[in-house]
Amino acid sequence: MSFDANRPDLTVGVIGTGAMGRGIAQVAAAGGMNVLMTDSRPGAAQEARDFIDKMLGRAAEKGGMSKDEASAAVNRIRIAGGPADMKPCDVVIEAIVENLDAKRQLFAELEAIVSPECILATNTSSLSVTTIAAKLKTPQRFAGFHFFNPVPLMKLVEVIDGLQTQNWVSEALMTVGRRMTREPVRCTDAPGFLVNQVGRGFTLEAAHLVSEGIASFADVDRVMRDVGGFRMGPFELMELTGLDVTHPASELIYNQFFQEPRYRPNLIMRARYEAGVLGRKSKKGFYDYDAETKPIVPPEPPAPAAYPGNVWVSPAEPRGHAALTELLRKLGASIETGPKPSANALILVTPIGEDATGCAVDQELDPRRTVAVDTLFPMVKRRTLMGTPVTESVYRNAAHGLLASDGVPVTVCRDSPGFIAQRIVAMIVNIGCSIAQSRTAQPADIDKAVTLGLNYPNGPLKFGDVLGPGPVHKVLASMHRIYGDPRYRPNIWLTRRARLGVSLLTPEP
Ligand code: NAI
Repeated sequence: MSFDANRPDLTVGVIGTGAMGRGIAQVAAAGGMNVLMTDSRPGAAQEARDFIDKMLGRAAEKGGMSKDEASAAVNRIRIAGGPADMKPCDVVIEAIVENLDAKRQLFAELEAIVSPECILATNTSSLSVTTIAAKLKTPQRFAGFHFFNPVPLMKLVEVIDGLQTQNWVSEALMTVGRRMTREPVRCTDAPGFLVNQVGRGFTLEAAHLVSEGIASFADVDRVMRDVGGFRMGPFELMELTGLDVTHPASELIYNQFFQEPRYRPNLIMRARYEAGVLGRKSKKGFYDYDAETKPIVPPEPPAPAAYPGNVWVSPAEPRGHAALTELLRKLGASIETGPKPSANALILVTPIGEDATGCAVDQELDPRRTVAVDTLFPMVKRRTLMGTPVTESVYRNAAHGLLASDGVPVTVCRDSPGFIAQRIVAMIVNIGCSIAQSRTAQPADIDKAVTLGLNYPNGPLKFGDVLGPGPVHKVLASMHRIYGDPRYRPNIWLTRRARLGVSLLTPEP
């Protein structure tokens, strides 16, 4: 097929000019392409054009482009009366309501109007590209072109190959995406495509932790920001997106994957969704909101003014033992060096994926004096502790007081295999690995898409490399063993690379 996506006068059709369609039209016009746009609601396309005019005017004021460039871009946008006017288009991008029948009907209509070489693309966020295309006469020229909101600010666009999509179609969309100054990433059709699949690891594991009583949602947010390095905690993110978006997307992805336990939704999300307690938009979610719709964050309890006598650190995890001993020295703790703790010493363990109870029992330590410290992540901005169900408060407080004595905040959670950050990040890495294993996308593209689309500090595969494929595998394998839940089984991509001691970005021929 001789489709020239670089042709200067390429015409892009946009159908549906709501939040997404107007953004797509804006970047297409700013990228030098002609745009024809339409919407079923009378006046909506004109409103969108006026909006784009304002946005590009603002960009010109800020020096992002010249005034002439801005007005030339707006002049490249024309309003069409309806799909029947899309005949001159080389590519048509659909951004209408998220409904399979509506989308299928629109594309069936379009097929009879546009030329046989015209590419048809959907911006669906949750429907299968293959399913939308299934009833078309020529599903080969159909693909997903999934932008992120707000389009002008979010550089990522996923180019999604449906089962029957031909290579030239996706290649052309990659070029069109680049002309729109986006960063296109190619993947094959899968529930949640690439980015929305990985996002489940962050939000769902956080919800599972809270519903299990391990920590409060505010504590999980604090730990994921300060320990995991995320810009926003999972609950803050769900509040901003709204549970009316996050929960149905989670159910859909889970069911499209034939109830794959890794994507199992959680009741605390469904309850809020059903009660209309959605987050910022309903002024109540996990958090309460003040008059300016800012979340009211429950304050952290102050660190207890307690300090241990002697401290003994378990050598069972040599890396954790070394990191924690170094920190304790800086804090001026009195550290015992014997092979066993003395009679009244505070016992610190540094598990990877194990819970405090498991450490105490397996290492024959006194569970009443045992406190676990998460050493897999840097202990610089916040530290996470947990005790066994029988750890005495005097020992828990002593550990808390000691580890907060240099002013670094400490979160104390209930006993959990993998604390908070270990298990949430391990789930993100595991999902990234399953995307790589299923060839949904190339390893480097998985990381690129996730850092661009979700703003995570690392893509899932690099995150696994930073923590170590071995430790991440250990977290998941321990959780799998302790809970007996296939949700936590390590993906084979991760298992092989952990066993070989190589990077999770290592591709296969
Ligand atoms: P929206 O509700 O803001 O806009 C949809 C527009 O389509 C409306 O202006 C509506 O009048 C028009 N429309 C509905 N049915 C139509 C039809 N049959 N023919 C022509 N126009 C029609 O929705 P939004 O958020 O822009 O979403 C559009 C699509 O983009 C959906 O498929 C959605 O899943 C997807 N998407 C949304 C994202 C988001 O964050 N909002 C992110 C990525 C994809």
